Order: sequence, then structure tokens, then C-alpha cells
Amino acid sequence: MAFKYGGKVDFPITVTLGRGLEGAITNESSIGYVDGQEGKLVYRGYDVADLAEHSSFEETAYLLIFGKLPQKDELDEFDRQLKENRDIDPKIIDILKKLPTTAHPMSKLEVAVSSLGCFDPITINNVEIGTQAGIKLISKLASVTAMLARIRKNQDIIAPRKDLRHAENFMYMISGEIPDELTTKVMDMALILHADHGMNASTFTSMVVASTLSDMYSAICAGICSLKGPLHGGANEFSLENLIKLTSETEARKWVQDCIKNKVKIMGFGHRIYKVYDPRARIFKRYAKEICEQAGKSDLYKIAEVVEDEVVKAYGSKGIFPNVDFYSGLIYNSLGIDTSLFTPIFAVSRVAGWVARILEYLPNSRIFRPRAVYTGPTDLKYTPMEER
Ligand code: ACO
Repeated sequence: MAFKYGGKVDFPITVTLGRGLEGAITNESSIGYVDGQEGKLVYRGYDVADLAEHSSFEETAYLLIFGKLPQKDELDEFDRQLKENRDIDPKIIDILKKLPTTAHPMSKLEVAVSSLGCFDPITINNVEIGTQAGIKLISKLASVTAMLARIRKNQDIIAPRKDLRHAENFMYMISGEIPDELTTKVMDMALILHADHGMNASTFTSMVVASTLSDMYSAICAGICSLKGPLHGGANEFSLENLIKLTSETEARKWVQDCIKNKVKIMGFGHRIYKVYDPRARIFKRYAKEICEQAGKSDLYKIAEVVEDEVVKAYGSKGIFPNVDFYSGLIYNSLGIDTSLFTPIFAVSRVAGWVARILEYLPNSRIFRPRAVYTGPTDLKYTPMEER
């Protein structure tokens, strides 16, 4: 839509309004590239499919933040810092325990990150301090999320272990058992695949907050608030909830047809950038089959395939395919993870991308300040209450 824009400062110009900032460019970045036409996702030049297969979340987080694959000693030191920071102050655990059991874990994660900031009041107006806070947050978000899972079920908190890998310790803190190799591999891969994705809503939100030179905790908390929504990270929960209600292939096909007829958006499908199959969904789909079989949930996997088939038949020509949230939910469900934890797990991973992008922007930071096209009057006279 084109508007005549006549602001006081600018001479009249014609602007094109991209709803939802579609097409707007915020900054230059060498962190990650989303190729929506080819269905390719790249972190610092490396194809995410390669990283998912061969790297670890720790190494990928290092890559995103420091811009290169680490040498062994560099990764060891980064890993040591992540492990050292796994503990959570008991006062914060007390705060989390006092929140209503029914509150969504994402809301509690917001409280947790704000609380962590209160106990570590440092700023991000230089890269060094911001990096330290970022590493702490990457480490502690996993611990806090696992603790929230247990608090929700009235279970005792499990202290982190410093001898386990990030994904392994995360699963251990949720279940109390050291996960098997496949579970660790799949969780590690899920954390790699969600770690960064261009200038998405939550990344943009956290960068806007950081651009005011607010602190890292506030910026990451804002990212979590943004990720929570059902059109963004929250879609994985809704997608799985829809799938588990479907008891047969016939019912699945009918459900999709009803959604189409009633113009209801189907969660786990569609993407602003990808107009082809989301490469992350492609990788998840491969593992989902195996994990569902292992968990005795092959029927659920078949239902998902039927839903995909029907949606793609109807909407594939419009560029609507499964996105990252469609098959990730199946995997988490088969690993025995509660649905309410799906979006927090997304945050446990995406925090690496948020931190990397905030730190990249910081040295030449300029406060984000777009404008809206004002469409109201400018010459109304104030009328007293009795004359309205
Ligand atoms: N089901 C049905 N129709 C859809 C879907 C869907 N999942 N997604 C988009 N469409 C249709 C819209 O109805 C619209 O149709 P129209 O042109 O006939 O009006 C068209 O495709 C464009 O949709 P928009 O909502 O304008 O696309 P936008 O780029 O703004 O949104 C979004 C992308 C939010 C992801 C959208 O596809 C959606 O709502 N999907 C469902 C929620 C979801 O899965 N979100 C997770 C995304 S991945 C992530 O954030 C991690």
C-alpha cells in the first residue's frame, strides 16, 4: 500500500508500507542467512544441516558468537564456562516455586531471566561484559527450564552436573536420568537447529532492547516474551496439541479440510521467509520417524504425515509447507517432554542467536527507531467533558 507521507520534518514522499515490516532491512550481519527460495539455512557460512549432523550445541553457540569454528582449547574453555555457570541461586529457585503452578513456563522463564539480571546487575554497553553475561545466560537458561519442568510437576529440583554435555545435562535435569545416546543426539540437534534464524520477531525484539543500551538480561527477557506467541515459538505447542487430538488418518484429513474451509491457520505450517520446505523441518522429519517408532508412537507420526500431505496439497502452491515447529513437537513428545516445555526449549537454543546478534550490533549500535505513518487529524480543539 502506498501512502502520501507529509511529516513536519520530511518533504512529502511516497512510502510503501510493508505490513509486519516485510522487506525492511535492519542492519548488516554475518551471523546467519536464511535462503527462503532454496530452503537453506546458514550459520556463519556453514550449512545448518552439516552442523546438525557433525557439530554440537556448544560448538555452534561458539561459532555464532565468535564467528569461527573453535580450536580445541577454545571450545574447551567455552565449554568450561558453560558448565561453571549451570548453578542457579536458591533464592531464584524460591521465586520460581512461589509462582502459580498453572502459569505457562514461558511466563516463568521471563521471571527467571529478570531475576537472574537482578542478581547479576551488569550492563551490555561493552562487548566484553555482554559476552560474559551472554555465556551465563546460555548456560543458565537450560538449567532454569529444566527446573521449571520439575517444579510444574511438584518434583524435587535436580542439581546440574558439570561432567555432562549441555544437551545431556539438560535432559538429565528434566528427568533425573542420564539420557541414552539417541536422545542426547536429537536434543543436541534440536538446539543447533533453533539457534539462529535471521531477523525473526524475537531476535529483532531483543536487539531493539539492546539498542537502547539496556542490559543483556533485559534484552534476552524481551526475546523470550516475543518468542512466546503462537505465531512464533509458541506454534510448536499448538501444533502438537492439534495432532494428538486426531485418532485416525480419516479424521486427520477431515480436520485439515475443515481448517481450510473455515480459513483457520494450521500451526506448524507457513513461514514469512521460506516459500519452500523449511530445511529444519526436513531434518526433524527424518529423526521424528525414528524417535516416534522408538517411543511406540508410529501412529502419531503417520497422522502427522497425513496432515502434511493434505496441507501441502491445498497450500503448497502458495508456498506453505511444514516449518520447524511441526516435527519438533513430535520429537519432544516422543522424548517424554511435556508440551508446555516446547517453547522454553526453543528459548534454551535461540538465546545463542540473540546473544550473538546483540554482540555483533553493539560496537556500532544505533537505537532502533522506525516511524509510523500517521493517518489521524492534527487540528482538533480540546473540548471540556460537559461539551462532548
Ligand atoms: N495455515 C493456513 N494458511 C496459512 C498459514 C497456515 N499455517 N500460514 C499462512 N497462511 C496463508 C494466510 O492465510 C495468507 O493467506 P491469504 O493470502 O489468502 O490471506 C497467506 O498464507 C500469507 O499468510 P501471512 O499470515 O500473511 O504470512 P506471514 O508471512 O505474515 O506469516 C506465519 C508467517 C506467521 C509463520 C504464518 O505462516 C502462520 O501464521 N503460520 C502458523 C503459525 C506457525 O506455525 N508459526 C511458526 C512459524 S516458524 C517460527 O516462528 C519459529
